[in-house]
Amino acid sequence: MTGRVADGPRLTRAGAAVPGRAREESLDGGLRGQDADVAFADVADDDVEDVVALWRACDLTRPWNDPYRDLADARLGETSTVLVGRATRDLPGRASADGDPGGGPSGVVRAGEVVASAMAGVDGHRGWLYYVAVDPRLQGTGTGRATVVAAEAWLAAQGARAVRLMVRSTNDAVRGFYERLGYVDQECVVLGRPLGAADARDAGR
Ligand SMILES: CC(C)(COP(=O)(O)OP(=O)(O)OC[C@H]1O[C@@H](n2cnc3c(N)ncnc32)[C@H](O)[C@@H]1OP(=O)(O)O)[C@@H](O)C(=O)NCCC(=O)NCCS
Repeated sequence: MTGRVADGPRLTRAGAAVPGRAREESLDGGLRGQDADVAFADVADDDVEDVVALWRACDLTRPWNDPYRDLADARLGETSTVLVGRATRDLPGRASADGDPGGGPSGVVRAGEVVASAMAGVDGHRGWLYYVAVDPRLQGTGTGRATVVAAEAWLAAQGARAVRLMVRSTNDAVRGFYERLGYVDQECVVLGRPLGAADARDAGR
């Protein structure tokens, strides 16, 4: 099956789903398996509340960023999107999968539920990822890897030649995840400041 990241457009702005199966993706091996547990597509109107709830459950929202506006802006952009991953069948939550009732959030994930997201955008050269999130019930099962692979495929299809993302210094624990996916420190300091819009008092934080 095709679908390697380098193969280009596996996911279109028309919203064609990309299969992504936990434990079956790798950055060099690409997406495999028609029987994906999680399938990725552009966010739809009906997903908005679920996606924002996912971001909140994953502690990705901040008081100074309106998540609804972030989501809407990404959908409006010609070179940006929000991908959502939906369970294609009922899936056991992480705790039950591990057989460890104390191992994390439990509960069956129902087919069709939004369980993952990534915001992706291209600045002309590089692609950027934001709001990479996996439902806590499925964290640690390969869904995060599948999400990043799907987002990278989207960025590559848009012509991006490299991918970048920012990790908050308060979220240092997540760096191990990205390192497993081949991401390395770019030895840059991110600088920023708000622009002049009336509602930008806290922007840039
Ligand atoms: C970060 C996140 C997306 C990872 O998703 P996930 O489904 O738990 O990750 P996966 O199960 O796909 O893990 C992929 C690999 O990374 C490893 N990994 C995952 N989290 C890790 C961590 N914190 N430290 C080190 N390695 C980690 C896994 O062991 C796995 O390794 P393997 O493929 O060699 O077996 C998820 O934990 C999450 O949503 N966190 C909260 C939101 C967040 O912080 N997002 C990132 C914002 S920058």
